Amino acid sequence: MRYGYFDDERREYVITQPDTPLPWINYLGCQDYFGLISNTAGGYSFYRDARLRRITRYRYNNVPLDCGGRYIYVRDNDTGAFWSPSWQPTRSDLEAYVCRHGLGYTTIGSTYKGIEAQARYFVPLHENLEIWQFTLTNRRQGSADLSIFSAVEFCLWDAEDDATNFQRNFNTGEVEVEDGVIYHKTEYRERRRHFAFFGCSEELAGFDTQRDVFLGPYRGWDNPTAVERGRSFNSMAHGWAPVGSHHVKVTLKPTETRDIIFVLGYHENPEEKKFDPPDSQTINKQTVKPVIARYLDETNIDTAFEALCDYWDDLLGILQVETPDVHTNRMVNIWNAYQCMVTFNLSRSASFFESGIGRGIGFRDSNQDLLGSVHMVPRRGRERILDLGATQLETGGAYHQFQPLTGRGNDRIGTGFNDDPLWLILSVVAYLKETGDWAILDEPVVYENQPRTEQSLYEHLQRSLRYTLDRLGPHGLPLIGRADWNDCLNLNTFSDTSGESFQTTTTKDGMIAESVFIAGLFVLAAKELTAIAQWRGLEDEARSYLDAAAKMEAAVLDHAWDGAWFLRAYDDFGRKVGSQECEEGQIFIEPQGFCIMAGIGLQDGLAEKALLAVKERLATPHGIILHQPAYTRYYLHLGEISSYPPGYKENAGIFCQTNPWIMIAEAILGHGDQAHDYYTCINPSAREAISDVHGCEPYVHAQMIAGRAAPTHGEAKNSWLTGTAAWNYVAITQWILGIRPTYGGLQVAPVIPSDWPGFEATRVFRGVTYRISVERAGEGNAVSLTVDGQPIEGNIVPSPQGDQAEVVVEAILG
Ligand code: GLC
Ligand code: GLC
Repeated sequence: MRYGYFDDERREYVITQPDTPLPWINYLGCQDYFGLISNTAGGYSFYRDARLRRITRYRYNNVPLDCGGRYIYVRDNDTGAFWSPSWQPTRSDLEAYVCRHGLGYTTIGSTYKGIEAQARYFVPLHENLEIWQFTLTNRRQGSADLSIFSAVEFCLWDAEDDATNFQRNFNTGEVEVEDGVIYHKTEYRERRRHFAFFGCSEELAGFDTQRDVFLGPYRGWDNPTAVERGRSFNSMAHGWAPVGSHHVKVTLKPTETRDIIFVLGYHENPEEKKFDPPDSQTINKQTVKPVIARYLDETNIDTAFEALCDYWDDLLGILQVETPDVHTNRMVNIWNAYQCMVTFNLSRSASFFESGIGRGIGFRDSNQDLLGSVHMVPRRGRERILDLGATQLETGGAYHQFQPLTGRGNDRIGTGFNDDPLWLILSVVAYLKETGDWAILDEPVVYENQPRTEQSLYEHLQRSLRYTLDRLGPHGLPLIGRADWNDCLNLNTFSDTSGESFQTTTTKDGMIAESVFIAGLFVLAAKELTAIAQWRGLEDEARSYLDAAAKMEAAVLDHAWDGAWFLRAYDDFGRKVGSQECEEGQIFIEPQGFCIMAGIGLQDGLAEKALLAVKERLATPHGIILHQPAYTRYYLHLGEISSYPPGYKENAGIFCQTNPWIMIAEAILGHGDQAHDYYTCINPSAREAISDVHGCEPYVHAQMIAGRAAPTHGEAKNSWLTGTAAWNYVAITQWILGIRPTYGGLQVAPVIPSDWPGFEATRVFRGVTYRISVERAGEGNAVSLTVDGQPIEGNIVPSPQGDQAEVVVEAILG
């Protein structure tokens, strides 16, 4: 069953039924000011950091679902009836409800009792504010006398404190109202220089800023007293819960239309110019007023909206494809690229599954996110790499997370996830291949954010490798530490106390348990660093990395091949994890993907065998399961992985991020059909028809789809902020379609399904536009390339000389 449809032309997903299985959301903002918005106008906004600069409130895990948002009420003053055109919070019986989630904007509208209403929400580029462009049209025979009420609930900035520290927070809330603009200024009197504002283009009939006056005692957002009685209270918040609500009266003749603009935003003043007059406690509004005025003007809004659309056109224009498969096209050309940008912007901080206070920027996560976004935002990718590098420790280890506002490592989680440092190598490699900007390697980067500890980024990469080599276990395989990619395989935790963190509790000295996954990742990273050293003419270094890779590969072959697949790990007792010898958890997906991506087992048939085992044991129509069989009870020595009920999350769920590793492995072995089949199983667009089973948005990937052992097999959770976005993008674009940046030029090496006659692609690479057409002439994957009409050797298109802006590439496959 579907709840809407794709409008590919407009790059929108159109939702036609408001009660989707879960709130289906979109993101507003792409720089510093961000908002989440659901298909019924739920969600919240923040400036840069969802935890420390939360602008509006949202109640996670509340009932009814999706509480708190950007609400607009329409009231018929003749009858007293009122409703929300976005369905929530009144949930009235609307006609013609439509939500269009587009790139950086969302439009929600409906008709009720002959009044058509629609709001378009977006954040203009380079501004710290959001616009609600509200349009009303009277479709009645007679004229309509209406009242419009807006409503947001302000958060007192630190979202965690806001949700916990009521003895203080019920006293601190402060607002100002001036010229129809509501200013939220809690804590501005002391150490904050920022405030929020909420303006309206129309003359106000009234306003409210105290939530419980606006709503009335014991009422919810679905029937505020002010709206019910048709008149604001002009309340001023003194403590309790500050809100912003404007009341505007509108009379519309038949067919008449009226636009009302609301602007909600964030503003900072210099410390010495906080107040006006200076010895008062009144916000100095000199610099904010022109900003508000600019965006209450419709012409400027239209220009800003066009600029936003151009911004996304430019980003997505970097790679566009035309294949025989609509789901591939849609995801590559629009949604997967868009989701990659959202993960780049937000890491794992704020979604409808991530509260914005739990996690900041993850080291491993953000490095992987870069793989899917660096071609769109190379300059920002460079900054991100340098920021990530600066949270590395001198040992080469890394803070697992940091807060975006401060850039500082998160002490609560600390370090010791032994895979972390190696991901930095992969992100730097992706950046270098995309840009050719070798100078980044010489950038001085501090350790642990400490001044005067600078060393070159290249040295950081070397330390990343050494970190693994300094921590090898009894079989010469990397020690796992707190966990590797799989946060829940906690082989040193041994936690028997409920409530303890699996990730930070460490009972063992960590000198025994080893990870085959890290071994694979290490071999891949060491080979990549070898190539970098070779390109820089550092032959000795290149040789030493290659030796290290070979040694690790040998350790894998000697100690981590289980007969038909790669082992997952050795536990603290030196026993196998992910082996036929195990009672449960006999085979894991991660090492199969990563060992093969690292080139292990390609020559001797092991890779083929491992992939066969994956297909036989792990593949389902809903995607490939993390491991099998699921753990049916808690294993003290395995940790969180066995804490989940069978089939969910890391306990044998379909952890979608790992699936592209297998797609890539299949492509490496030349299996185009299999690679693309796996791709389709978890492609959200291809799953749209089973939206009632899948549950999450059909336009973005979810982290997890419940596995075979789960009673709800096929049900997705945790959409949007997941490494699934970047890795799927890499798998489909670089390995299946085979368009791959390399140091020496753009590689074209497709491994596509056998029944595809070919495909077309346009790729902008290092400032040059490549127009690529691929034509299948035979069944194999061998490529013959013609570049601007001339046949060339190999499959790498060299960068053109001079200022040639366009290159035509024809590839014959067979
Ligand atoms: C989550 C984490 C990621 C981890 C994965 C598997 O997605 O953000 O870092 O690799 O779970 O446990
Ligand atoms: C939990 C989740 C895992 C996530 C981790 C982050 O363990 O299962 O997916 O990576 O928390 O701390």
